Amino acid sequence: MNKQEVIICQNLNEDLSAAINRCPHDKLFVLTDEHTRSLCLPIIAGLDCMKDAIEICIGAEDINKTLETLASVWKALGDKGATRHSLMINLGGGMVTDLGGFAASTFKRGISYINIPTTLLAMVDASVGGKTGINFNGLKNEIGVFSPASSVLIDSEFLKSLDLHNLLSGYAEMLKHGIISTTTHWAELLNFDWNHIDYSMLQALVAQSVQIKENIVEQDPFEKGIRKALNLGHTVGHAFESLALETHHPVLHGYAVAWGMVCELYFSHLKVGFPKDKLRQTIQFIKDHYGVMNFDCKQYDRLYEFMTHDKKNNAGIINFTLMGEIGDIRINQSATKEEIFEMLDFYRESMGC
Ligand code: GLY
Repeated sequence: MNKQEVIICQNLNEDLSAAINRCPHDKLFVLTDEHTRSLCLPIIAGLDCMKDAIEICIGAEDINKTLETLASVWKALGDKGATRHSLMINLGGGMVTDLGGFAASTFKRGISYINIPTTLLAMVDASVGGKTGINFNGLKNEIGVFSPASSVLIDSEFLKSLDLHNLLSGYAEMLKHGIISTTTHWAELLNFDWNHIDYSMLQALVAQSVQIKENIVEQDPFEKGIRKALNLGHTVGHAFESLALETHHPVLHGYAVAWGMVCELYFSHLKVGFPKDKLRQTIQFIKDHYGVMNFDCKQYDRLYEFMTHDKKNNAGIINFTLMGEIGDIRINQSATKEEIFEMLDFYRESMGC
């Protein structure tokens, strides 16, 4: 997989012009959703480099991450005269960068694209690393390809329009990057003051976080080994997310991942010796900032079922990424149903639900 260039923007106009110039093209397209069209497009629409950009807008949120929306983007590209030499800019959160990246990577067997993530979650996770796709058949990101953007432009100005819930959702992925990297980075993430947000400090943390993800993706772009580190918290997190959706109380992805990390760090402690004090401190941070997802023991079977459907599993065995210490990554760990139920007991006791 080609390496994508990730730029922490100092000047969006200059950085975007340079990124566009690196991709010779005949026509330029910009994909937005109904939110980023009104909130974010005006920030870039006036730039010189965007004056000929042709706009395509799709419905917002995960509910629109569908084959139908994908087909509507392919159709718009075709109707508006896109060729194999056209370039697309995806301006939005993870839904836009995932679906737009997939549309670009498949239209006429692939055109170049640039991501401008506008949410914290997309900046530190979705837009970086070349995973593209759509939901299908009731399963998240079921269809897609690995195909990196030419450039990813991260401008923390977009963060200022996000509400606290969306910031914290992205921050859960940053916390995950802290846990899989160094004690220093993990500790500075736990100490960030969410009551008085210092955006320049947040931008510096974002830059570190993106670097951690990039380093891992560079070593293992197709997730055969070490990239599975990025799945910490996600085996249980996806099950929480699915249960929440099914019971009509949807939760933001990062919240589910944070709660998933409570469970998987507990397993880490039990199975591979993750230190108790760091488990306690991480759980306290998650409890304080993300609250708790409530469920009872009658829902354990359903959660277990969701875990068995996870696409990270191999030969029906539920696959976990665990941690022996901060930075000590143990991929391809498994657990019995009994252990998983015991872990859910731990979650409910320690989170007080
Ligand atoms: N979101 C995890 C990864 O990109 O591998």
